[in-house]
Amino acid sequence: TKPEPQMIVIFGATGDLARRKLLPGLLRLLRRGEVTDGMPIVCLGRRDILPSDFLERLQVERFLPGDEPELIERFSRLLHYRQFDLQTGTAEQLTEVLQAVARDYRCGGNKLFYLALPTGAFGAVADLIKPLVSGDGWLRVVFEKPFGADLDSAKRLNDSISAVLREEDIFRVDHYLGKELVQNILFLRFANEIFCCAWNRDAIDNVQITVSETLGVEERAGYYDHSGAIRDMLQNHLLQLLSFTAMEPPTSNDPDAIRDEAARVVEHLRPPETADVVLGQYGAGRIGDRDIRAYRDEDGVAPESVTETYVALRTFVDTPRWQGVPFYLRTGKRLAHRYAEIRIVYKQHRCDGLDTPGRANMIVIRIQPDEGIALAFNVRKPGSDNEAESVLMDFCHHCHFGPNTPEAYEAIMASAMRGDTLLFTRWDWLRASWRFIDRLRAVAPPVVAYQPGSTGPAEGERLPEADQRAWVETT
Ligand code: BG6
Repeated sequence: TKPEPQMIVIFGATGDLARRKLLPGLLRLLRRGEVTDGMPIVCLGRRDILPSDFLERLQVERFLPGDEPELIERFSRLLHYRQFDLQTGTAEQLTEVLQAVARDYRCGGNKLFYLALPTGAFGAVADLIKPLVSGDGWLRVVFEKPFGADLDSAKRLNDSISAVLREEDIFRVDHYLGKELVQNILFLRFANEIFCCAWNRDAIDNVQITVSETLGVEERAGYYDHSGAIRDMLQNHLLQLLSFTAMEPPTSNDPDAIRDEAARVVEHLRPPETADVVLGQYGAGRIGDRDIRAYRDEDGVAPESVTETYVALRTFVDTPRWQGVPFYLRTGKRLAHRYAEIRIVYKQHRCDGLDTPGRANMIVIRIQPDEGIALAFNVRKPGSDNEAESVLMDFCHHCHFGPNTPEAYEAIMASAMRGDTLLFTRWDWLRASWRFIDRLRAVAPPVVAYQPGSTGPAEGERLPEADQRAWVETT
């Protein structure tokens, strides 16, 4: 189904996220016909700049690799920059701005607000939107992550917005849920007989989830130094990957049936102990021929900062399906490679009949780059004395479906425009995740240093050794 006519309003439109992800995503949705020429995109920012300057700075033509001047022209016509400050602006001012733009369009009263702003700015939104909720059409509000900084602040924020918005009109973003291969986890599990019946503690030995980044904190030290890898990545992206990997079969395809099961996973995470957590911070070093500054020397980072840029965690999902199966999670910045993947490591069964040990079977869900799913299994090594060799059956997503799979933010935008909540975090999930994270932060050991361009601190590498296991490295 195509989205209904609506006005799209981006708060924080001069920011990085809007420029790099949201607006390019909307341009591609215009090309696909999901955004139409009747849907204005109001770009709100604090800066006092002319709409023409905004467009010039944006360089819309850079959003697309090909030469499509007509599309660029249509898109530019939809963009309306207006100065508006969420902290000081009033509901009347906002209504006036939006009405003035709406006059030239037949978009009805439906409005999609996207708050591409720091979480501290969200609080102001409740008062601001109150008078708009009762207007014509619907009002949906998209909140960028992070949603709160701990359970208390998330709860306060949630209380204030749920006093004015219904849960189905609140869209809490986790852009990892928009990634194609993340959306595929449930298909892999529940649309395939061979996988769904071997997805439990009887068959699976352990699960490994890695999101490894090569970038440092870039220009975002002001935010990151107060957040760290636990709250920037683990609380949201990695715990969502864990939820989709570990959830029970939902009772239907309904977004809420799926979100019920996702929440249940986080609610059943075993509270972490100090020995389950490793925190790291990158020091100075070299990656390839580039000198890398230590995290503490990055602009905007406190010289004595103890913020973690790496976290590794061992956890258990205390449900009958997963009793005793360790889940190892790790993520960090300035590591050797950029990749995100989930590895389902099977038990080293020796099926009756053949005395050929082979290696443990494994399913690798490659979220990025080179999206795909691989299955490692054993074959007979030719010419050998019944020796087994592990080989990969490898599904490459773009080889099969072509290169134009929607990017995460495009999928997120399209879902919010349609009012589809599946790709968004529900409050019960979020509450459980913050409860877990608050506990984890309370017991976490101090940060240890690691080399940029490495796979993280040695302590993190050794984490699975407590269970006589090891990280399986990328093949
Ligand atoms: C964001 C984090 O949510 O995700 C960033 O704030 C991180 O620190 C980014 O770099 C990673 O996203 P992706 O899509 O590039 O893997």
